[in-house]
Amino acid sequence: MKKLIIANWKMNPQSLREAEDIFKGIKKGVLKLKKIDVVLCPPFVYLSKIKDSIKKNSIKLGAQNFFHEEKGSWTGEISIKMIKNIGVGFVILGHSETKKLGETNKKINTKVKLTLKNKLTPILCVGEDKRDEEGEYFSVLEEQLLEALNGVGPSFSSKVIIAYEPIWAIGEAAKKMISSEELLQTIIFIKKILADKYGAKSLGKIRILYGGSVNSLNAEDLIKNTSIDGFLVGRDSLIPEHFNKICKIVEETIL
Ligand code: PGA
Repeated sequence: MKKLIIANWKMNPQSLREAEDIFKGIKKGVLKLKKIDVVLCPPFVYLSKIKDSIKKNSIKLGAQNFFHEEKGSWTGEISIKMIKNIGVGFVILGHSETKKLGETNKKINTKVKLTLKNKLTPILCVGEDKRDEEGEYFSVLEEQLLEALNGVGPSFSSKVIIAYEPIWAIGEAAKKMISSEELLQTIIFIKKILADKYGAKSLGKIRILYGGSVNSLNAEDLIKNTSIDGFLVGRDSLIPEHFNKICKIVEETIL
């Protein structure tokens, strides 16, 4: 399986022109990569335009969310078919920033199933808001995973990408960086849940990424000393030099 790096632009940048500039910068870096896949997730309004500039076999495109109903009277919402018809192949689901607005595991589960039904790849985010001494966060992770994947059978499991994103390590408000030991331990736990649900063989097929303050200073340690399959990058995906550096580090650590 190729390593995967996802750029999550969140609600940035503020104009199409800026979006195109960032895209061009990232594209330049990505063209030099041979061993990793890159998925760019801009805001909805830039998807079509960016899609037109993407050549085959270079960057892939993802959305950051969609609405859990298939169509109809839902003012302001975006459906999975709308995204699909633009040619988007991936969608981030269950990000902690959408959960903060009230999204439940049940809704995330509906979206995972709708994504698979429409043959797109869900990037399912899971992550605890704090780490307690007693290890209660393991139950939080287990619940998030099992509820979001409820009813998703083994034949679909390889189509799901898991992004482990501890809330305490995400964004400007991050309390601290995750260490490679902490990450490794959590990835082993996530793999155990997946192995129990889908069988040990599934582990070679499900990509598990890490997201939360990934930058060019911690990327090497995190990729080398854990068993992750790539990164989900927020802030540093808006700065092409930074993002390209992270991609290059990952590419160079692959034997
Ligand atoms: P960050 O965001 O890299 O800015 O911490 C990651 C994410 O929330 O996806």
